[in-house]
Amino acid sequence: MRERGRGILFTAIAALAFAGTALAQQAAAPGDAKRGKELSYTCLGCHGIAGYKNAYPDYSVPMLQGQHTEYISAALHGYRDGDRAHLTMHSVASTLSEQDIADIAVYFAGKPLESAGKAPANVPPAAALCSACHGADGVSITPMYPSLAGQHEDYLKRAIEEYAKGGRKNAIMKGFASNLKDADIAVIVRYYSHLSPGLKTEPRPYSILTE
Ligand code: HEC
Ligand code: HEC
Repeated sequence: MRERGRGILFTAIAALAFAGTALAQQAAAPGDAKRGKELSYTCLGCHGIAGYKNAYPDYSVPMLQGQHTEYISAALHGYRDGDRAHLTMHSVASTLSEQDIADIAVYFAGKPLESAGKAPANVPPAAALCSACHGADGVSITPMYPSLAGQHEDYLKRAIEEYAKGGRKNAIMKGFASNLKDADIAVIVRYYSHLSPGLKTEPRPYSILTE
């Protein structure tokens, strides 16, 4: 009886170990920027054109160059899995494998922004709380949080509204976004969007063909 119990235990451990290996094989290898660049051709039709706008409603397509790799990956999972509502982004993200996402994230991020470690003197009181995570200079304190420095003002406003309304489901941001008055949102998005150094639009699509 004891022997048999042990046998079952060993089988269970072996099965777990096997499952572990299978999972490890599924997980994406570290991102390959070169492959990410090839995969990003269609993305650049929107993300590679400075000032390009989403239609109905009208707001600027977010800038990604300088953003954190981990955050880009998390955002793509969000669109794919339905935590973020956006029809086009849901369709494109749904076609990507884990490896595609890892590669694209590294390519888009480029050289992620780094905080200079010195808070600007003019942080508006409304943004003080936000700065605890997104950084007083708009460079977030961990790669899982988005940097906001230099991002389009109208896009930041749209994102905050989506967290408040539930189009974007995120427990942390829902709380913060729901408590903001319109006047505070206006001050906050103006502040972050004007910070420099900041995020940038990806190089335009044709550079992919010529580089
Ligand atoms: C038709 C235009 C269009 C195309 C094509 C497109 N995007 Fe987007 N993308 C958008 C818009 C608009 C948003 C903002 C959506 C929202 O409001 O959440 C967005 C959001 C994102 C975000 C989130 C950015 C942030 O700061 O949270 C990432 C990452 C992203 N796109 C990556 C990609 C990738 C990778 C591809 C190609 C596989 C792609 N996009 C293709 C328009 C586009
Ligand atoms: C405790 C940390 C924390 C605090 C404080 C915080 N945020 Fe966030 N913020 C996050 C995280 C995490 C995300 C990414 C959520 C997701 O996956 O969509 C985010 C996302 C955002 C985005 C979307 C950026 C993009 O590129 O799409 C905006 C805009 C934003 N926050 C603004 C604010 C503002 C304004 C405040 C203050 C009122 C604030 N945040 C406070 C953690 C925080």
